[in-house]
Amino acid sequence: MKLVFATHNQNKLTEVAKMFPNHIALLSLSQIDFNKDIPETELTLRGNAQLKVDAIRETGVLNCFSDDSGLFVNALNGEPGVFSARYSGKRHSDTNNELLLHNMQDIKSRSAYYKSVFCLFFKGQHYFFEGRLNGKIAHEAKGSNGFGYDPIFIPDGYTSTLGELSEVIKLKLSHRTKALNKMIEFIALNS
Ligand code: IMP
Repeated sequence: MKLVFATHNQNKLTEVAKMFPNHIALLSLSQIDFNKDIPETELTLRGNAQLKVDAIRETGVLNCFSDDSGLFVNALNGEPGVFSARYSGKRHSDTNNELLLHNMQDIKSRSAYYKSVFCLFFKGQHYFFEGRLNGKIAHEAKGSNGFGYDPIFIPDGYTSTLGELSEVIKLKLSHRTKALNKMIEFIALNS
């Protein structure tokens, strides 16, 4: 079976491809000659994930999936949430992290979570799969592993940020891994 992953992000594609069973041929957008950007204009992760899948479906692709994710801080009513990539107005992790630490400077309750939503269009229907990683926002950025908010996010059960923890641990804990595993299990049971 052929399955298109609606992402232009090569790192994500490589990471996800490693987790798929061999009998599923995972295709990137460039492999199906889809080179347009798909703006994420919805106000929820689920809405953005579906929007990307629907843009690909319009090209006649039968089975495809996409994902969207973000960091939700409880004391900030879920900010930056769906706007995580451009929280500071720029797609730049350092400035996003600085702004979040600034907005949290007088806040004691620092709980937060990463959430990932996968939307799968499969045999004519949409399906959604969610994964979550609970933790808290650190008081300062530490470590350079991972990406995005990882240097300021301490997962529950750990005292180090994801920026300091290894890639193996991050992959095991990750919200994306959890959502993806649910989707892979669903495909295995239904194909
Ligand atoms: P996307 O789903 O890859 O578009 O993620 C949107 C944004 O959420 C990213 O640009 C990051 O700012 C943030 N984000 C999502 N997942 C992670 C993660 O695993 N680590 C750090 N930041 C993340």
